[in-house]
Amino acid sequence: MEPTAPQSPGELDRLFYRPADEFFVSNSGLSLTYDDVSLATLYSEILPRDANFETALAPGLSLHLPVVSADMDTVTESRMAIALALNGGLGLIHYNMPARQQLSELTRVKNHVHGLIREPIKVGPDQRIGEILDLIEEKKFSFSTFPVVNESGVLLGLLPGHCVRPRFAPRAVTEAMVARSSVLTIREDELGDDPIARADRFFTEHIGIHKLLVVDSEDRLRGLFTLSDIERITQERLLQTKPARDGKFRLLCGAAVGAPRDVSGDIDRKALLGHMEAMVERGLDAVAVSTAHGHTRGVGDSVRLIRDAFPSLPIIAGNVTSAAGVEFLAGCGANTVKVGQGPGSICTTRVVAGVGIPQLTALYVCSKAAAHCGVTILADGGIAKSGDIVKALTLAHAVICGSLLAGCPEAPGQIMEINGKFYKQYRGMGSHAAMKAGSAARYGHAKDSARKSAAEGVEALKEVSAPADAVLAQLAGGLQSGMGYLGAPTLDVLRKNARYTRITAAGLKESAPHDIIEVKTGNE
Ligand code: XMP
Repeated sequence: MEPTAPQSPGELDRLFYRPADEFFVSNSGLSLTYDDVSLATLYSEILPRDANFETALAPGLSLHLPVVSADMDTVTESRMAIALALNGGLGLIHYNMPARQQLSELTRVKNHVHGLIREPIKVGPDQRIGEILDLIEEKKFSFSTFPVVNESGVLLGLLPGHCVRPRFAPRAVTEAMVARSSVLTIREDELGDDPIARADRFFTEHIGIHKLLVVDSEDRLRGLFTLSDIERITQERLLQTKPARDGKFRLLCGAAVGAPRDVSGDIDRKALLGHMEAMVERGLDAVAVSTAHGHTRGVGDSVRLIRDAFPSLPIIAGNVTSAAGVEFLAGCGANTVKVGQGPGSICTTRVVAGVGIPQLTALYVCSKAAAHCGVTILADGGIAKSGDIVKALTLAHAVICGSLLAGCPEAPGQIMEINGKFYKQYRGMGSHAAMKAGSAARYGHAKDSARKSAAEGVEALKEVSAPADAVLAQLAGGLQSGMGYLGAPTLDVLRKNARYTRITAAGLKESAPHDIIEVKTGNE
């Protein structure tokens, strides 16, 4: 019998563009990833700019931007975590460092007050103006006004820029400074919930003043706001998504841990719980028990231990790619499960171990199990462009990005120049170099055997990119467009409405710029 095409438009769409259950079930046995599919458009009444990205990952853990930065030693330390939270997302501080250092990275994020320079350059009362001029020359400072403090950090006055001139070189700072009694300051505990708005108000009220010094109850200098920073931030605020904050108005911050073992091979309860306690005390918002294989006794034991000790702390755990893996971690007490084995840009797990599932199918399978168990999932790895984020979020509650953020100035590591181009290092946590630096346990190897064991990641370079703010704004813009095309005002609706079609290699070629000579990329 000749196949007949349905006549009604609705039936036609339904036959060719399938909702998730139909699409993935009819492709079962074949695993697909982002570039294997495209999403069909749907009737829309929303403008991209009205799309709402709000996502609840766990009770007490909601983000305004569903993007999490990877817990990798070339991606997330405090600077990246601050940038993510300021843009509404979440940074996961990696654990390839001593526990003490991880604690101080977390503290930096939790203490961060946007716009407040915590360690302003200070001068002493007995220094000569000539020394200050040398300092400005040596450090290439673009400013010449400095707070004056004694050895205990107590504020003595302010050295104004118009006095820092060669003609006054032999004079002492005390002779030139504005005395403490005439310097306007604000107490740290008066900054309130919105320090930027407070500083903004101060500068409006005090015409001609460009610096606001912050002091503690003992009049020790605690920081400094500048008018130009406050004006820039206030402008940016109009454009930016809301920062992700906790109940005390501090930026959200997550941190990763492993499944540390003692000499007998059991989970090292004392080390894990001691470190967790210190992090929770500093305001940790979520912990990620993060290993390459999360469906294991070690990860399960760690999650259970943390859940018992911290009943309301959001726990992320992974990584898995099976429904059984999700069920296992949910049963141990995880709220959010990291999904992804081998899709990462620097991963070689599939090459080395022959293991892993192309990401979109893994996300579908895990999303069904997650809905069944009442947990959420994170799409971890393989996100190369904003379109991949839209596809991932048709199944997951947020994405984890490594490669897309590793070139930002906020990522740890030095910038290097090669043939006139600038790069930053980006390495897999299962690469030999990262395992040697401490991450071997994440891949189930002993630290001292890192050299001998098979690496599951490569060491690479990323071209230096724009700052994280700009990169995240690009990604958010792409996500807004995708939600606009699917008529999805929220991520819940995006997940419910998405319809998929498989594409061929020719379709993929057609999906990117082709048959042209590109003179400008879309992002320039
Ligand atoms: P992207 O694609 O964003 O992926 O660069 C980041 C994610 O990759 C995972 N990861 C690894 N996977 N070997 C692996 O198989 C590795 O060495 C490795 N290092 C990181 C991790 O889940 C990260 O979030």
